[in-house]
Amino acid sequence: MNIQIINGPNLNLLGKRETSIYGSESFESFFETLKKRFPTMLLHYFQSNVEGELVNKLHEVGFSFDGVILNAGAYTHTSVALHDAIAGIKSPVVEVHISNVYGREEFRHKSLITSKCVGMITGFGLEGYAMALTYFKGIQVSPS
Ligand code: DQA
Repeated sequence: MNIQIINGPNLNLLGKRETSIYGSESFESFFETLKKRFPTMLLHYFQSNVEGELVNKLHEVGFSFDGVILNAGAYTHTSVALHDAIAGIKSPVVEVHISNVYGREEFRHKSLITSKCVGMITGFGLEGYAMALTYFKGIQVSPS
C-alpha cells in the first residue's frame, strides 16, 4: 500500500518552529518512527513551501497511490488550488493538523480543503499522522 505524506509551508521547521505548539521533534525523525510502526505500508514523504509544488505532487501520486495524508499548513486556510487538486484526483486524502486549529486564531477555523478530504484529524500532535495511517491500514482502497 503506497501512502504519500505531504507537508506544506513551514513544516520543514518542525522541531525548531514554535515548539510549544508543534513540539520539538523534526518530521524527518518522526518519519523514521512511522516507517517502523507501519512496516507493511510503503510510506513516501514530501514537503514544500511552494503551493504549486504541493498541487503537482497531488497530481503525481493522486491516480495511483492508495492514499494521501496532507498537512497543507497555512495553505489549508487560503488555497482554492489545493481544494481543486484534491477534488480532481482519485486517491483519498486525509487532512492532518498537528495543533488543534479550532483552539487557535479564528482564521485557522476555516479549511478550504476539508470538504474534499475523507476527513480531518486535528490537535493530536504528530500522532495525527499515525492515526491517518491506521485509517488507511483499515481500508483496502484502490483508486477508481
Ligand atoms: C497546521 C495549522 C495551520 O494553521 C498552520 O498554518 C500550520 C500548521 C498544523 O499542523 O497544526 O502551518 O497545519
